[in-house]
Amino acid sequence: MLARALIERKRDGGKITPAEWRRLMQQYAADDVPDYQMAALAMAIFFQGLDREEIGALTDAMLTSGASLDLTHLALPRVDKHSTGGVGDKVSLVLAPLVASLGVAVPMMSGRGLGHTGGTLDKLESIPGFRTNLSLADATAQIERLGCALIGQTNEIAPADRRLYALRDATATVESIPLISASIMSKKLAEGLTGLVLDVKRGSGAFLPELERGLTLAQTMITLGADYGCPVVALMTAMDRPLGRACGNAIEVEESIMALRGEGPPDLMKLTYALGAEMLLLGGAAADRDEARRRMEVAISSGKAARKFQEIIEAQGGDPRVVDDPGLLPQAAECEVYLAPRDGVVAQVEPRAIGRGITQLGGGRTKVTDVVDPAVGFVITARPGDVVRAGEPLATVFAANRQGVTDAFAVLAAAIRIDDDAEPPLPLISHRVTEAGVAIWED
Ligand code: URA
Repeated sequence: MLARALIERKRDGGKITPAEWRRLMQQYAADDVPDYQMAALAMAIFFQGLDREEIGALTDAMLTSGASLDLTHLALPRVDKHSTGGVGDKVSLVLAPLVASLGVAVPMMSGRGLGHTGGTLDKLESIPGFRTNLSLADATAQIERLGCALIGQTNEIAPADRRLYALRDATATVESIPLISASIMSKKLAEGLTGLVLDVKRGSGAFLPELERGLTLAQTMITLGADYGCPVVALMTAMDRPLGRACGNAIEVEESIMALRGEGPPDLMKLTYALGAEMLLLGGAAADRDEARRRMEVAISSGKAARKFQEIIEAQGGDPRVVDDPGLLPQAAECEVYLAPRDGVVAQVEPRAIGRGITQLGGGRTKVTDVVDPAVGFVITARPGDVVRAGEPLATVFAANRQGVTDAFAVLAAAIRIDDDAEPPLPLISHRVTEAGVAIWED
């Protein structure tokens, strides 16, 4: 009866009290509220919004619907990074071991692919044997030992969000600032962090493409963090083209390994260093951005960061040899180079089309129960603004069979637009947002 009354009230623009949010989320986590009622409430929230107090109350209700990591006994600072989702965004795979190798604990809880965006868990699980479903006790023990665990949202953590998140994907209610903020922050706060860095995407491949909405999302999450004494810093970054070159699970792991050796593509390295510096500053592990950058470069050039990734992979049941030999990752049966159809300038590499193309090749899901093919995807070397000649290589496709290659070529023909001239792409990093306000990013 509670759910029906609350749906009706929210539908008509009314407000739900903190006690009601808490009861509702406890009932939902206990399976006492059916999905159809929660779907109706999500749609009512999508249209009516939530005010600041309600967003805080919903976040708290989802957070307390489950358990949290208790890492207060660790002497180390605990800082995580979260991205609002993109295509080719493998930064987490590089950052977590890199920052953990520098004395800041990274209890990283990630998700699976959602819509056209890829998921860190799917990428990690392309490493033979790698397990992401650690219990809270096992994750805690691993963080104590190695300073990092790369885990999924178990049934124990924010279970109300876990159910609601899957439901929102199926009911077209993902793109709501209150729902995204509460969903992300309930999980991040359950990690028991002392600081959080957000990578808020903007551009055509982001869930919220417009800058203004992205800034509102960032500011909402920063105030939620402040409610719990967890400082949050956000960088607004470009998702009007894929990040790096590799888009697909195993090939993104390979590119991440290259980045851990300092040989990643320039945009991936730049964003990794920028987000990593924020993490080290929040963790008190560097006095300023220059020192943070120097420490990260040394961790990479000395092999320390790559070794940390190896230790994490081994601890989570994966084959650590992939770090020295990425050829051990799953390999696609077919691999073919896609050539420029004409002379001109690369005007666009559309991330949504690429993300959907990965799913079409079998590398993403249309249903939660779909099994992902880890080996398929694209390596796109063409960047917006590049001048190209007809017949030059623009990308390589990795597919399970010949039909996949044909499909992938059609995806690339639609996603990579070559024109006579091109608008400049968005700056890779455009703004830095903190509790103090929004600042233009200076390289
Ligand atoms: N990531 C989340 O964890 N939740 C959302 O709602 C969107 C992205």
